[in-house]
Amino acid sequence: MPTKKLHMAWFGIAGPGGSAGDWKRTVDGYDWRHPEIYQDIARVCERAKFDLMLFADQYGIPQVYGGNWDHPLKAGLWSPSHDPLPILGALSACTSKIGLVATFSTTFFPPYLLARLLASLDHFSRGRIGWNVVTSTKKSAALSFGMDDLVEHDERYNIADEYLALCNALWSSWEPDALVMDRDADIFADPSKVHTVDFQGKYFKSLGVLNVPSSPQGRPVIVQAGGSPRGQRFAAEHAEMVIINKTSVEGLRDYTRSMRGLLAQAGRDPMSCKILCGVRPVFGETESIAKEKWEALAAEATVETGLVSLSEQTGIDMSAYELDSPLPAGLKGPGMQSKLPEHSRHGPVTLRQIALSEARHDNFPIYGTADHIADVLEQTAIDGDADGFYLRAGLHNVAYLIEFVDKVVPVLQRRGLLRKEYSGTTLRHHLFEY
Ligand SMILES: Cc1cc2nc3c(=O)[nH]c(=O)nc-3n(C[C@H](O)[C@H](O)[C@H](O)COP(=O)(O)O)c2cc1C
Repeated sequence: MPTKKLHMAWFGIAGPGGSAGDWKRTVDGYDWRHPEIYQDIARVCERAKFDLMLFADQYGIPQVYGGNWDHPLKAGLWSPSHDPLPILGALSACTSKIGLVATFSTTFFPPYLLARLLASLDHFSRGRIGWNVVTSTKKSAALSFGMDDLVEHDERYNIADEYLALCNALWSSWEPDALVMDRDADIFADPSKVHTVDFQGKYFKSLGVLNVPSSPQGRPVIVQAGGSPRGQRFAAEHAEMVIINKTSVEGLRDYTRSMRGLLAQAGRDPMSCKILCGVRPVFGETESIAKEKWEALAAEATVETGLVSLSEQTGIDMSAYELDSPLPAGLKGPGMQSKLPEHSRHGPVTLRQIALSEARHDNFPIYGTADHIADVLEQTAIDGDADGFYLRAGLHNVAYLIEFVDKVVPVLQRRGLLRKEYSGTTLRHHLFEY
């Protein structure tokens, strides 16, 4: 069987993540409020030659479940969290190869402001920045920003299409060689290579020019995670990488088939967008140790944690539904629309089962020795036609990450599944190196 070389990412949020009690796992005096934990994680991921780190982000404190934030705050779930932007700055300074991606919303940032911030970061990191484009799913966030409500789901993507078009125009307003800085010729920049953007869209207008020159990558790597049909069309139009959560290899395969088809329909090479699937493999020196660790982790998950996560992600208050029955067919909220169908793709499941699965992150239950984990990852990538995986390691469980990097990564590298060295310095290079 030919070896399938994988792309690998770390995924987390700059605060308490989606598992109850994660924050209590922090060791060695780390504090999520301070830079050291992020910097050390970045160094470990770079040592493992991961392609990138990706920070999720959202606004406000979860309050969909039961209409209040009591449980998320007590349990340290999803919130509070730092804005990822300054973190990317701090990580740019302490690493030199690993890609740095953060989530920013087209609903809340003015396009000019975000285009400029990302261009600056791409300079600071010397070409390692990516943008996970989200349209946001929470009404509470819209209210915080002074809006009366969230714009309707598909319309948010229509707005995002135009947002990207404007950002692309701004990033192209400086030709790559416009900044001359030639002391002998006494010329700083060539005005003939700096162009006015005159953008008149349905949702946005901009007349002017970016006051940051063309960055090493020209524009950040565009990442996306939309799972709805409209979200996938958006990704097929713009994304260079997508991240997804699936509950089975068949689900992964269906998604990649659909995504690669949409890429072709959009006039793109079906392989021009990397597809990374979320996993949290649990390592053990033996199968039985790994199984014990897996079961111990699963036992920590509570139904309520799962209900909070599910409510937040779908925008539907799950406290209103019967725990031991399936959810009503076709239930749809303002948030992620692919979540509930994904859980019930293998037949009816009760809300309790869905909640526990969410809380355990057990969509791909992988546990075992390093060789077993390598076997499963390789086979999953082949059968599901994925390009790689992102590790749902959680910010606080640094020990988990170090164990994965020390015990599993060398096996993946020995088998030719992961790179042993970076061959370039930009994020786009890493992603399209193979
Ligand atoms: C792995 C993954 C990570 C995501 N991270 C974020 C995030 O950080 N912030 C956010 O607002 N939405 C996030 N989302 C939500 C989606 O990007 C998308 O906006 C949402 O799923 C609604 O669109 P859809 O119905 O097309 O899926 C994430 C989704 C997935 C699958």
